[in-house]
Amino acid sequence: MGVQNRVAIVTGSGSGLGEATAMMLAQNGAKVVVNDVVPEKVDQVVEKIKAAGGEVMGVVADISKKDQAQAMAKQVVERFGRIDILVNNAGISRDKGLLKLTEEDWDIVLNVNLKGPFLLTQAVVPYMKEQKFGRIVNIASRAYLGWPTQANYASSKGGLVSFSRSMALELAKSQITVNCIAPGLIRTPLYDALPENIKENLVKSQPTGTIGKPEDIGYGVLFFADDDADYVTGQTIFICGGKSVLSSLSV
Ligand SMILES: NC(=O)c1ccc[n+]([C@@H]2O[C@H](COP(=O)([O-])OP(=O)(O)OC[C@H]3O[C@@H](n4cnc5c(N)ncnc54)[C@H](O)[C@@H]3O)[C@@H](O)[C@H]2O)c1
Repeated sequence: MGVQNRVAIVTGSGSGLGEATAMMLAQNGAKVVVNDVVPEKVDQVVEKIKAAGGEVMGVVADISKKDQAQAMAKQVVERFGRIDILVNNAGISRDKGLLKLTEEDWDIVLNVNLKGPFLLTQAVVPYMKEQKFGRIVNIASRAYLGWPTQANYASSKGGLVSFSRSMALELAKSQITVNCIAPGLIRTPLYDALPENIKENLVKSQPTGTIGKPEDIGYGVLFFADDDADYVTGQTIFICGGKSVLSSLSV
């Protein structure tokens, strides 16, 4: 039961939801790989996890590049001998209305949010197949339901949900589960920096009347990554304070 002694890669864990998830996996006994494209962020989170008594390694890599994704998987196996859990968390947004959206805005968001998880999955699955064990958790977004000015972001996350469902079926007989989390509004520095009146409206629009915290996503990851969660695959869970139950357009 749990994630004790499992080896877990969390992409984009140099900040935000990924950082909280990496810390929670370490606190629950997993050996954690902190990945980010920004070296200083990797160093900072590695130090925090070490200080908390966790076993951790840092890997600076751009997950949207095949050679870097493959090299990370190899490095992890060289250090820890296996890869049990992959959390495809790294993600970016470039929000604009359709007529302002450039080809570059489209490509970069799709490359990081959708191609990245594909490349990492391809890099780790051979090891997971050999071990006859794997847990892949993809971090999508409630925005995949659709949102104005987020055509690129919503499409990348919708694609990630479809990718997860397809992988769940393809890998089901290899004892590898693939699931998705669709977070709603989560309290991050970006949220804190919003004007007070906007924050007030956002809180009011939540069925719970609250904003989620990064650890709420970490709990979801711990559930899907658990040794005992072998009968749970191809699922997407909304962690959004109930907002997915409302119309996707209710702000
Ligand atoms: N924060 C929210 O409210 C929220 C809501 C829904 C979904 N999400 C999703 O959760 C995930 C984490 O979001 P967050 O708010 O913690 O974001 P964040 O910006 O705090 O963290 C994302 C990290 O990913 C890293 N990163 C970016 N491109 C990368 C690449 N090519 N390779 C490796 N690392 C890369 C960044 O440097 C950053 O440290 C994202 O996929 C995001 O779309 C967040």
